[in-house]
Amino acid sequence: MSNIFSSSVGKKFLMSFAGLFLVVFLVVHLSINLLVLKESPEAFNKAAHFMSTNPVIRIMEIVLFGGFLIHMIYGVIVSIQNMIARPINYKKTNNSQTSYFSKYMFHTAVVITIFLVLHLLDFYIRAKYIGGVEDVYYEGIKHHDLAALVIARFHIQWVVIVYVIALLILGFHLHHGFQSAFQTLGLNHPVYTPVIKAAGLIYTILITLGFICIPILIYFFK
Ligand code: HEM
Repeated sequence: MSNIFSSSVGKKFLMSFAGLFLVVFLVVHLSINLLVLKESPEAFNKAAHFMSTNPVIRIMEIVLFGGFLIHMIYGVIVSIQNMIARPINYKKTNNSQTSYFSKYMFHTAVVITIFLVLHLLDFYIRAKYIGGVEDVYYEGIKHHDLAALVIARFHIQWVVIVYVIALLILGFHLHHGFQSAFQTLGLNHPVYTPVIKAAGLIYTILITLGFICIPILIYFFK
């Protein structure tokens, strides 16, 4: 019997739902990251400390990694199913703008996954398990000086270039993913669909430029 986990509509539904959760995560992550641009590292380090010690956020972190996994696993399954179902001459005949972005969802996802693994190893896993991040004290409480780590990384030219390219590819993925998720979740409407597409474009531009400005501003000005 087919259910949400095995039917093809169910799989796309789960993938879209998890994708929209990640859309929210990026807003939170960017808001905190922008604090690293402040003159003093204190606000960023305190926010990162709160995120890594607050019990509610710790639970949300498990949900977050679950969201990434669901999105990736079902993304792979749906892509394979689409490849099998797609007529052979599809690539040649379909030239609309939407199909251009949708055609590369799998490729961009692979790049984002590689970026994410390297990013987590360098920041998250290093801070939590590997060590080597300096400590700093605020009001007598020990914090990781993650701001110093981020700033040190973004003084390395090739790291900045890799981040900018990866973030542009993330923007490419978000541009189609945002509106496609709403369509999959059933919001297909003559009035609301153009609004969602516009909101998706604004979201994508703000998130992409917001993240990109961090390595660039640090490299040139901090
Ligand atoms: C300029 C860009 C970015 C900077 C400076 C940055 C910085 C950081 C730092 C410092 C951490 C470790 C936080 C801690 O251990 O407390 C972290 C974790 C993380 N980052 Fe990023 N990040 C950036 C972009 C991204 C992007 C684009 C994604 C997703 C595609 C992402 C996904 C994650 C995830 C999933 C974690 C682990 C969960 C968390 O701590 O919130 N990051 N990032």
